[in-house]
Amino acid sequence: MKDLLRIADLSPADLEHLLVLSEQVRSDPHANADLLGGDTVITYFAKPSTRTRLSFGSAISHLGGVPEVVGPSELQLGRGETIEDTAQVVSRYARAFVIRTFADDDVQRFAAAATIPVINALTDGHHPCQALADLLTLRQRFGELRGLKVAYLGDGNNVTHSLMEACALAGVDISVATPVGYEPDPEVRAVAEDLAQRSGSRVTVTHDPLLAAAGANAVYADVWLSMGVSEDEKALRAKDLRPYQVNAAVMAEASPHALFMHCLPAHRGEEVSAEVIDGPHSVVFDEAENRMHTAQALLTALVLGQLDGAATAVTS
Ligand code: CP
Ligand code: NVA
Repeated sequence: MKDLLRIADLSPADLEHLLVLSEQVRSDPHANADLLGGDTVITYFAKPSTRTRLSFGSAISHLGGVPEVVGPSELQLGRGETIEDTAQVVSRYARAFVIRTFADDDVQRFAAAATIPVINALTDGHHPCQALADLLTLRQRFGELRGLKVAYLGDGNNVTHSLMEACALAGVDISVATPVGYEPDPEVRAVAEDLAQRSGSRVTVTHDPLLAAAGANAVYADVWLSMGVSEDEKALRAKDLRPYQVNAAVMAEASPHALFMHCLPAHRGEEVSAEVIDGPHSVVFDEAENRMHTAQALLTALVLGQLDGAATAVTS
């Protein structure tokens, strides 16, 4: 396995390896300080980023590498050089390429043409690096992932998709509640259901937020307007998604002391109430910290060729 484009690219054993390695990285971030030997890892952002950009920068430094941060306006890619030519050129310079952009298809094309590992740092369809950090956070809190239930309330987006695949791969029940018209991609749902069948967990998609939250060990929220979605949709989305806000009434349906999770950035008073995100059961900053440990583990595992990949490669 060369790249990580979505969580379903991983086998259950790969996931376990990444989580164990992330814990090792957390307790000793500089243990592998010679891995990159001063080589460059390029991180490319066509959308804004705080956590992904800065956590990868720290992770690359811990591994003895040099982070080179670029965006479309700095590369000829922004003036029409092909994805394939760019991918082949950067493969001659860097040890890995981390990419945040819009279309999943662009990242697939990049990965297919590159000879170095390519990591999806958020696309319209997936956010696998976030889901790895989320699973690490759950594991730190609960010890064992298998048998937990996670509820996601809101827009069925990139974060939802990766969370569904990650929970299903790890044996965690995932219950997603969205308004009509905001459901997760049926292709992702089918992939997650297949993974869940193998791990013995369940994927539920509903329009009922309280049903989704019932008995959950963690309740997850994300923004109502993702990057790349037109601002023109803001008012409509606010109206449609309001009943899916994670607030005290929703948390009361979950398991006692259930965690609140959010990938950040958050909008208090929209997808989550201030009392929940700033309350004692919120783990949002642990998730943010874990972005760095899981990024470092992922880079290490891909550079060293330690991941086998899923038995059946998923291509979209
Ligand atoms: N959660 C996350 O990916 O944050 P950034 O957009 O700040 O990278
Ligand atoms: N769904 C959000 C996640 C941000 C980290 C977005 O794509 O903007």
